[in-house]
Amino acid sequence: MPKSVHAGFTVITVEDYEEMSMVAAKFIIDKVKNNSKLTLGLSTGGTPKKVYENLILDHRKNQTSYKGVTTFNLDEYVGLADTHPNSYHYYMLHRLFKHIDIPDHQCHIPSGLVNDIEEECAKYEKIIYSVGGIYLQILGLGENGHIGFNEPGTSFSKRTHVTTLTNETRLANSRYFNRVEEVPKQAITMGIETILSSQQILLLVSGEKKAKALDACINGELDEDIPCTALQKHHKVTIVADKEALH
Ligand code: PGA
Repeated sequence: MPKSVHAGFTVITVEDYEEMSMVAAKFIIDKVKNNSKLTLGLSTGGTPKKVYENLILDHRKNQTSYKGVTTFNLDEYVGLADTHPNSYHYYMLHRLFKHIDIPDHQCHIPSGLVNDIEEECAKYEKIIYSVGGIYLQILGLGENGHIGFNEPGTSFSKRTHVTTLTNETRLANSRYFNRVEEVPKQAITMGIETILSSQQILLLVSGEKKAKALDACINGELDEDIPCTALQKHHKVTIVADKEALH
């Protein structure tokens, strides 16, 4: 049974990554079935990989349709082309979008390859606003407590902006690159204020490496040095976390 912590938090404890991915996929599928015009905020990284696999399996088996769904990804590296295998454009296309029936023009990811990056940030916010905001935002959690690419020390009041990645984050993400030097130094990310503006948040956490950040998120004080603590300001956050992450 889910147990309540902060007024806005519901924590669902699951056994492991497999179960987290199953529970999260069901959560998302139920929302899509309830509202065919759902606006979803999406994340990348290792955490949601299996969730997306489950969405694809369900789409094939049960024909859950994404024709009316609009998506906004949290972030993208600065300087990687959409076709670069480590770009989040590439990740989303190959791990989800091309396998379901969502129209391309309804899938939004900030571009890290524009001349005027500030303009790109403002444009991204405008598009989110124009569709009435995000209904359900899916989040992973960085080992240093980051959400999106909002690194420790980021003001909670920021909206979409350019950020410099910490060495810690570049090291954590270097597993997808040949060398840590290849990991871009900057990214464009929804800000914490953007994330908090969504109507609901689904935070997915798996593994012992995330335990410290998750503990701060659930039990710590609001602290801009631990970005995930900002979620305590939101009225509806469902946390699906496995036993290792919650220990
Ligand atoms: P991960 O990253 O899912 O690859 O662990 C999460 C994050 O950095 O937000």
